[in-house]
Amino acid sequence: MGFSAGAIHALESMAETIRHSPQLLEAFNDFHEKTAHQGNWHFDWTPLPFDPLIQEQLGEDTSLFYLLVYLSALPHTLQVYRQRGIPMETFAETMADIRFHVELYAQRHHRWGFEHFPWIARHLSGRLFSLGRLQFMLLPFPGRVTALRHRFDHRYILLADPRQPLRADGYAAGAGNANIPISPEEVWYPAWEEDSRGWKGHPVSPQGYVLKRSVHFSREEWEIALQHGDWVLDVHIPQGKNLTIEDSQRSLERAFKFFPTHFPDHPFQGVYCHTWMFTPQLRHLLPPESRILQFQREFSLYPHPGNEGFLLEFVFGSRERPDENAPRDTSLRRAVLDWLARGGELFDLPGIYLYPPEAWGKQAHWKDWETFALEQ
Ligand SMILES: CC(C)(COP(=O)(O)OP(=O)(O)OC[C@H]1O[C@@H](n2cnc3c(N)ncnc32)[C@H](O)[C@@H]1OP(=O)(O)O)[C@@H](O)C(=O)NCCC(=O)NCCS
Repeated sequence: MGFSAGAIHALESMAETIRHSPQLLEAFNDFHEKTAHQGNWHFDWTPLPFDPLIQEQLGEDTSLFYLLVYLSALPHTLQVYRQRGIPMETFAETMADIRFHVELYAQRHHRWGFEHFPWIARHLSGRLFSLGRLQFMLLPFPGRVTALRHRFDHRYILLADPRQPLRADGYAAGAGNANIPISPEEVWYPAWEEDSRGWKGHPVSPQGYVLKRSVHFSREEWEIALQHGDWVLDVHIPQGKNLTIEDSQRSLERAFKFFPTHFPDHPFQGVYCHTWMFTPQLRHLLPPESRILQFQREFSLYPHPGNEGFLLEFVFGSRERPDENAPRDTSLRRAVLDWLARGGELFDLPGIYLYPPEAWGKQAHWKDWETFALEQ
């Protein structure tokens, strides 16, 4: 795993403590059985619940106990890789991210411990893979928008989820600052009709807001390309060097080969991503050539009742509103602080990318959107 000597020493001491305590050993074996054998991992994005009895014994070293149990699943993870024929280089590349998070904890807290359990549960259960700059895992598409593909020229259009209440500007009701109420009169629902001739719905702009008017799309010309529950590649952006279009494209090329080879039972229909980097207000805060905005522009965003917490967590390290002492050392941090001070709102959105890797960097869906706008 390439852990540093300090991390190995901390884990070895914990292993020794467990070995000498029948109660801890029993808890260790139970938790190992539950995770590694039964696959009952804590995937929710909430802190892993610690057993109070273990906490009582181990105090602030408790997280090392759980880290050790999680790592004890590695032989099972290896087995998943072998069964799927996944090369050992991908194993090393993927698990390096666990090392990164172990070291990150030590940097932040000045002691050994761990907190990103839901995250590494994805690596250890053999679901998430690092493939170059980006990480990917298969996921049933969680969104409720429907993507239509033109049968002849293969362009796409997204149609809104009829169950998602929207504000006047076409973004989700509840997006942004929850303390600013929106009037019930302002809220509207996009219509959705499906019959033997086709679909009638409200198109979603690539920036993630829904158009007020509905449009009919005939089955003769259009077909469904993606809908709720279809397999998608969920993409994650680990901390690291700058996020260039070239590096992301290379990752995407790898993913488009990797998953059909090793998971042929799960053909995917597109790429999905939900990140703070899809906060639509960022285009007012960063220059167009910013790598975050370049990445955002590759995806078709769609409504979601997000809030500022996602961005604040990754830009300032906490979901709470930053105070006057917040660091202003990057252009993004300065722009966010000034935007919030002016009363600006921020909210994250999910997005999808429906094209092959060759189209990456070309913002293909913006061209599709222009074609659609010209036809109207
Ligand atoms: C993804 C990432 C590499 C993008 O950074 P980048 O390639 O520098 O992106 P940009 O070119 O758009 O950056 C524009 C500015 O914002 C700053 N910036 C970018 N991400 C930042 C962050 N998370 N916190 C503070 N400032 C940030 C850059 O330093 C740059 O500032 P500068 O003009 O003063 O030099 C970076 O945000 C990162 O490492 N994030 C951690 C992982 C993450 O957030 N993943 C997504 C999880 S959902």
